[in-house]
Amino acid sequence: MKIYKIAVIAGDGTGPEVVREGGKVLKSISSRENFKLEMINYDFGGERYLRTGELLPDSTIDELKKYDAIYLGAIGHPDIKPGILEKGILLRLRFELDQYINLRPVKLYENVPTPLKNKGPNEIDYVVIRENTGGIYTGNGGLSMKGTPNEVAVQSMVYSRFQVDRCLHWAFEYTKKRNKKNKLALCGKTNVLTYVYDLWERAFHEIGEKNYPEITREYYHVDATCMWMIKNPEWFDVIVTGNMFGDIITDLGAITQGGMGVAAGGNINPDGVSMFEPIGGSSPKYTGQNIINPLASIAAAQMMLEIMGEEKASKIIEEAMKKTIQKMKGMNAGNMGMSTSEVGDDVANNIAIS
Ligand code: IPM
Ligand code: MG
Repeated sequence: MKIYKIAVIAGDGTGPEVVREGGKVLKSISSRENFKLEMINYDFGGERYLRTGELLPDSTIDELKKYDAIYLGAIGHPDIKPGILEKGILLRLRFELDQYINLRPVKLYENVPTPLKNKGPNEIDYVVIRENTGGIYTGNGGLSMKGTPNEVAVQSMVYSRFQVDRCLHWAFEYTKKRNKKNKLALCGKTNVLTYVYDLWERAFHEIGEKNYPEITREYYHVDATCMWMIKNPEWFDVIVTGNMFGDIITDLGAITQGGMGVAAGGNINPDGVSMFEPIGGSSPKYTGQNIINPLASIAAAQMMLEIMGEEKASKIIEEAMKKTIQKMKGMNAGNMGMSTSEVGDDVANNIAIS
């Protein structure tokens, strides 16, 4: 029987609560399918940092490389200055594990409220592929003459052809495998970022023309992408974009699919270890109340199985989630008509009886 080793980083705030529910679902699916999951906990996060001053010990990066996947809750702590945990843990893991794809589906399920008028599950069903290891997130930068009137701040958007190519190749492959509209849209800003997105656009058409003639190619500026994601989300099938734009448009996408309680993402290294997370944060104000929506974390677990190759198991979880969603009153903390643990129990139970 196949055994998958999963490193669990529950993290801060509501992270442990939602990861616990995802764990129930994983347990339920593995006891009916033909694989086992060995889950090992790591306590990285704000609490550990406050206690020990340690973010991610160097040795753990190598240790984590031995796992089949990482299952992450949330990183973020109200008593720690923004940037420290994000850069020291979340982003460091993405970069050092070379998880160069951030896969973020925007999918509205039946019975989930969306703020988009006259749009439903048929219209809101696309995927954003965000480049996850480059761009302005890792470009050079710094401050000089800090604190003086002459202070200068620089943070550069840097992309190599290699980074762009590997992301685009994966995006084309994904679009082909998804086999829905067979359409890949590049989201950029070629009218202003005439170097970086020129590189992206040339690579996009070269790769598409040569290797994926059956995939329709489209291009949108990032500002226009935001507009069409609201006005005509049904136009999209797969969107590929750089790190910063991907960060921004996926929050917009998330709100159209029911919010942070539902949206999941995968940080994928196709040749290494990938990490799956709900894309909402640590929600300190809801922590410990058993009211946070664990569906995003459950969806992250579902994506983890899909990417590890357990596609049937992933489908079963999705169907089980759909049934649970039918019973829920809302998707936000406190308005679900169910508690965090009831949602997890219900999905796990739907799997057991399916
Ligand atoms: C996300 C988050 C992170 C990002 C933050 C927490 C560093 O917003 O996963 O989208 O900017 O990538
Ligand atoms: Mg974000």
